[in-house]
Amino acid sequence: MSVLMKVLCLLAFVLVFAAMTTHTGRASDDGERILNNVCNQCHSHERVCRNLGRDEGFWDATVNRMRGNGAPLSDEDIETMVTFLSGLEKNAPVVCE
Ligand code: HEC
Repeated sequence: MSVLMKVLCLLAFVLVFAAMTTHTGRASDDGERILNNVCNQCHSHERVCRNLGRDEGFWDATVNRMRGNGAPLSDEDIETMVTFLSGLEKNAPVVCE
C-alpha cells in the first residue's frame, strides 16, 4: 500500500469516528433540551426518573402517549427521547437531580 493510501485510510477512519461521536453528542444534548423544555410542562422529572432503566418499548409507548396527552413533540423529538431515555440508567443525575 502506498503512503498516500495509508494516509487516506487513516483520514477516512478519523472522519467516520468523529461523525459518530458528534452524532451521539447531539442526540443526548437534544434529549436534555427536550426533557427540560417539554417534559416538565405537565409533571416533574420525578415521574420520568421513577421509570429509568426501562426498555425502548416502554419509552416508545410512553413518549407517544405523552404526545397524545398534549406534549408538543415532532416524530424526530420522539425518536430522540426514546433513544435518550432508554439509554439512561436508574437514577441518572441528568433526570433525577
Ligand atoms: C401535555 C402534558 C404532558 C407533557 C408535555 C408530558 N407528559 Fe408525561 N404525563 C402526562 C400525564 C397526564 C401523565 C399521566 C397519565 C399517563 O400516564 O398518560 C403522564 C405520565 C408520565 C409518565 C408515567 C408513566 C407511567 O406509566 O408511570 C412518564 C414516564 C412520563 N409522563 C414521561 C414524560 C416524558 C419523557 C415527557 C417528555 C417527552 C412527558 N412525559 C411530557 C402529561 C404530560
